[in-house]
This record gives sequence, C-alpha cells and structure tokens, in this order.
Amino acid sequence: MTLDELKALAVSMLDQAYCPYSHFPVGAALECADGAVFTGCNVENAAYPAGICAERNAIFHAVSEGHTAFIRIVIAGRGADFCVPCGVCRQVMREFAPELEIICLNGAGESRTFTLPELLPHSFGPDHLSHEANM
Ligand code: THU
Repeated sequence: MTLDELKALAVSMLDQAYCPYSHFPVGAALECADGAVFTGCNVENAAYPAGICAERNAIFHAVSEGHTAFIRIVIAGRGADFCVPCGVCRQVMREFAPELEIICLNGAGESRTFTLPELLPHSFGPDHLSHEANM
C-alpha cells in the first residue's frame, strides 16, 4: 500500500471514532511487515479511563489477528496540531516495533514523520525483563 493510501485510510477512520466526551476524533492505519493493514479509531466510554486510543485499537486488532511486526502507522486528527501519539500508545508501539515510523496528520492533511526512538528515547522493552541479573 502506498503512503497516500495509508493516510487516506487513517483519515477515513475519523468518521468511525466514538468520542462523545472529548469531541476529538482520531483515526489510525497500521502497516505490517507482511503488507497487511489494520485500522483503528478512538472509542470512549462514560467511565473515562475505559476508553482506548485509535493507535492502540489498530495495534491490538493486528495482534489479535496474528500480526506482530509493524513498519509504519499513520495517525490522523482534525485539529490544527499534528496528532502525535500519547505516552501509553508509544509504549505499546515499543513492545512490537521499536523502530516504527509514525506519520502524524493534522486536520489540513499535512504530515510530520517521526521514528519511535525520537518520541520514546531510552525506552523500556521486553529485553529489560530477560536478564538474569534482574533475578
Ligand atoms: N487519542 C487518540 O486516540 N490518540 C492519540 O494519539 C491522542 C488521543 C484520543 C483519546 C481520547 O479519546 C481523545 O483522543 C482525547 O484525548
């Protein structure tokens, strides 16, 4: 899939967002190493912490279907600022794709691209749990 197609998918997911509390829709489109693509939107809840971000929705959808290697993700918002991922989503990305490319869109369709190490430096990951010295 081309980047423009991936961007268009993320933007299309804005219409699926369930965000009656924040009124801040987010759409995401995740490209896997094998070319599979998974989408997500934010889904909020009256009990606020029970909601989930668009990026994690897309990632968990992919993992649920057996895909755990990711190349890039587009995150779309309608605001003036680029829709950057929250800290929790950055940590979830880190679990599966430490070098993930993250393309953030604003409401004008402009984009800014980051790498995960830029957004989450000195990150904690699975390797940190596997050293015998921890025992
Ligand atoms: N949100 C996302 O879905 N992704 C982000 O990267 C930032 C925030 C959602 C969570 C909540 O539903 C709304 O945007 C406002 O925080």
